[in-house]
Amino acid sequence: MTTVLDVQRFKDEHRRFSVITAYDFLSARILDEAGIPILLVGDSLGMVMLGYPTTLPVTLDEMIHHAKAVARGSRHALLVGDMPFMSYHVSTEQAIASAGRFLQEGGMHAVKMEGGGPVIEITRRLTELGIPVMGHLGLTPQFVHQMGGFKVQGKGQAQAARILADAKALEQAGAFSLVLEGVPSDLGSKVTQALRIPTIGIGAGPGTDGQVLVYHDMLGLTTGKAPKFVKRYANLAEEIGNAAQRFAREVATGEFPGPEHGYSANGSTPTPVGAKDGEIQEVKYGAG
Ligand code: KIV
Repeated sequence: MTTVLDVQRFKDEHRRFSVITAYDFLSARILDEAGIPILLVGDSLGMVMLGYPTTLPVTLDEMIHHAKAVARGSRHALLVGDMPFMSYHVSTEQAIASAGRFLQEGGMHAVKMEGGGPVIEITRRLTELGIPVMGHLGLTPQFVHQMGGFKVQGKGQAQAARILADAKALEQAGAFSLVLEGVPSDLGSKVTQALRIPTIGIGAGPGTDGQVLVYHDMLGLTTGKAPKFVKRYANLAEEIGNAAQRFAREVATGEFPGPEHGYSANGSTPTPVGAKDGEIQEVKYGAG
């Protein structure tokens, strides 16, 4: 299983690594079996799974619900639970309790929090208590209203210096890695070079140690114009739409279900696809 020590080793050995978000059992299993070393149960699930306009409405209970499903699907990856808005903002005690739920109930191995400032002290406390922390700086979606939208951060000198200082402070506080989102590529490289811990970029250029993408973006499940930092490695929205239309057509014409998809009491039904001769197939959802 990937541990935080392995993640540090990736950087020490100059091995660039990938992180993908995961929100459910089956996708976690696919990504885990594909060898993705870190799965992030991101609060982006509010937007791509639950249809909220931002990540702000996501609750800790919703995050834990999805974290549990991901933990059931994964065996090898390091699992990181994203602390949602207002689950660590009230007090250090609240942050400890929320992070504790991710590890105890959600089956996560680490948590992620957005921002610097007060989050630095919370990072110190959590790591002292044995809860590994991934930091997150730059375009931090939980600050959407303060940023005036989802805008690239760190373009000006003062903002870039703030991000670099927060990054160093998070490392000092014990964070094991740092997400850098929506910052100019040269700042992504500069922060990466200044830190001992690995950086994980999303819209932070090619100079970070790792790269993360949201599952739905990476697979082309989200449609319309993708943000500049997204590369679509598949076009599943189109494939799913086509498959659904084919299914509907075959239902309408009577082509589906065929005899091979049915059961009979006397055993004269042809053996279902995927079953051995004479084998009684269980009636259940999902195949293996
Ligand atoms: O919520 C999320 O998925 C994230 C990643 C995009 C880094 O924070």
